[in-house]
Amino acid sequence: METKKRSDGQEETGAVRDYLCEMFSLAGKKAVVTGGGGVLGTDMACAMARAGADVFLWDVRADALRASTERIQKEAGRINGIEYRKVDLLNEDEMLAAIDAAGDFQILLNACGGGRGKSPLTEQDMENFRFVMKLNVEAGCFLPMKVVAKRWIEKKTAGCIINIASMSSYVPLSGVWPYNAAKAAVKNLTEAAAKELAPHGIRVNAIAPGFFLGEQNRRLLTNEDGSLTDRGKAVIAHTPFGRFGQAHELMGAVLYLCADGAAGFVTGITLPVDGGYLIQNI
Ligand SMILES: NC(=O)c1ccc[n+]([C@@H]2O[C@H](COP(=O)([O-])OP(=O)(O)OC[C@H]3O[C@@H](n4cnc5c(N)ncnc54)[C@H](O)[C@@H]3O)[C@@H](O)[C@H]2O)c1
Repeated sequence: METKKRSDGQEETGAVRDYLCEMFSLAGKKAVVTGGGGVLGTDMACAMARAGADVFLWDVRADALRASTERIQKEAGRINGIEYRKVDLLNEDEMLAAIDAAGDFQILLNACGGGRGKSPLTEQDMENFRFVMKLNVEAGCFLPMKVVAKRWIEKKTAGCIINIASMSSYVPLSGVWPYNAAKAAVKNLTEAAAKELAPHGIRVNAIAPGFFLGEQNRRLLTNEDGSLTDRGKAVIAHTPFGRFGQAHELMGAVLYLCADGAAGFVTGITLPVDGGYLIQNI
């Protein structure tokens, strides 16, 4: 029987690989990744491309899109089927044109979103509040779900949507008022959409990452010299694994939720990948 040495030194047979492929391969699928020029969007698109999917990145930042596309092409070892388009996800017409350009696709990963600083309740800037709500609830979740689900229902596509929630979808974090409210809404919208779209064979789930150092939260969690802020220390103290997550640790959740062979009966869940952060225990 054909065997191959894995990076951890273990032997793996062709039968094992065939079984895993049946369960998790995304070959023949195409995924649209919104916020595809961002940190998590790029990593997740990369995981999908390496699992065989074609990927089409949407983002408002053209430079970031170009860099992400190049990185994914390099890591997936191919150029074909890895594309991008500049799209403002707050603009429904732009999104409709982008859907036409995408052709048939079966996966929508909504990785656009993020926070913008923190403040006491009484000093919350309302422009900032409205912006963060719009970024995460409309651009980051509802509008892409709406236009893509409409298209999939028309074309009878049994698609899969993945939204990105947060620890604050469950328990509010101090000082990030619109982000908390928006991410609680993302979990809620995921559940409501899963129920309404299930009869069309469309699955809708979310991933709730714990704390992964990214551009948007680095300044809240670490000082310029790399040491932890008080907030960073509090997060680590509250995380049973005692550390931040690493981007690659989110990828299994992405592939699992995308794969009909593994998660074909899974819809409406928000899957935490958080090193145990949500366990409120002593
Ligand atoms: N990084 C973390 O630790 C973490 C933890 C929990 C949840 N999340 C969530 O994961 C998602 C991705 O986070 P990230 O760290 O990769 O953020 P990021 O800022 O790196 O990526 C977000 C991307 O969205 C794009 N974008 C913003 N507005 C847009 C618009 N109107 N149209 C099109 N694109 C637009 C940005 O250009 C950016 O490339 C967000 O929803 C975030 O809240 C991140």
